[in-house]
Amino acid sequence: MNLPVLIDGVTTPSAEASVSVFDQAVQRGLGCFEAMRSYGGCVFRLDAHLDRLDRSASALGLELPARDDLSRWIVAQADAGTALPGDGSAVRVFVTGGIEGIAGSSRVIVTVASPPPRPASLRLASVEAPWHPAGRWSELTGAKTISYAPNMAAREKARSRGSDDALLTSVDGVVLEGPTFTVAWVNDSRVYTPSLDLGILSSITRTALLEVAAEVGVPVVEGHFGLEVVKDADEVVALSTFKEIVPVMAIDDRPLDVGPLTVTLQAGLRALIEKECR
Ligand SMILES: Cc1ncc(COP(=O)(O)O)c(C=O)c1O
Repeated sequence: MNLPVLIDGVTTPSAEASVSVFDQAVQRGLGCFEAMRSYGGCVFRLDAHLDRLDRSASALGLELPARDDLSRWIVAQADAGTALPGDGSAVRVFVTGGIEGIAGSSRVIVTVASPPPRPASLRLASVEAPWHPAGRWSELTGAKTISYAPNMAAREKARSRGSDDALLTSVDGVVLEGPTFTVAWVNDSRVYTPSLDLGILSSITRTALLEVAAEVGVPVVEGHFGLEVVKDADEVVALSTFKEIVPVMAIDDRPLDVGPLTVTLQAGLRALIEKECR
């Protein structure tokens, strides 16, 4: 079922929803986005998503509409999404770069659809990502831009090796993130995760995981870790808005098991979502 799209707040049938072929989003990949999950019409951590969209837009020099308008459009689409079958909906916001030299031609698109199916587990292949900031700073570090081609190419590389997705590493073998998810792992009853100074996305699920770990009394260590450390972990998980917390069952040729802390963290995240969204 394709629900209508909001373009600059105007309801548009999905078959008619379009942007100009001259928009820099089309021609140069200039734009930013957010992908949110709504549960029964409630968007989990809407403010955090809007804050990140704000940071992404200002990194690209794009102006956003008033926060109240954005928020209203997102909530309206989340509400429309309650008509979809299944567990909640995916609400996505795209802000395009607009047509060069034409003020006000940037478009804000808000879509709603069924979320991608949540995998029960993932097998990852390590893929070197020389394009990733990996600790070097640039104007766009941490921005969620629509230019995801390197991420998608890394995923394809992993799939061509028989894995489900990629585990990105720096050229020095430091573990970064997945193409569309954060990673964390458990060793000696502690949770480890790459630190944000590596230029990984400041994932909203990662923040929620840190809160859940604190709630259940599990220490968290953020830092720079090599691939071998992660392969030797007791448990490894992938985190994102759509995946929530998914166990990783293999990295390259190293098999892994679902462990007890993964189950605890999964339940803790679900409880947090229920608390904020039900
Ligand atoms: C590169 C990258 N890292 C991590 C994430 C997870 O972020 P969030 O938890 O906010 O969905 C995403 C989500 O799209 C991503 O693209």
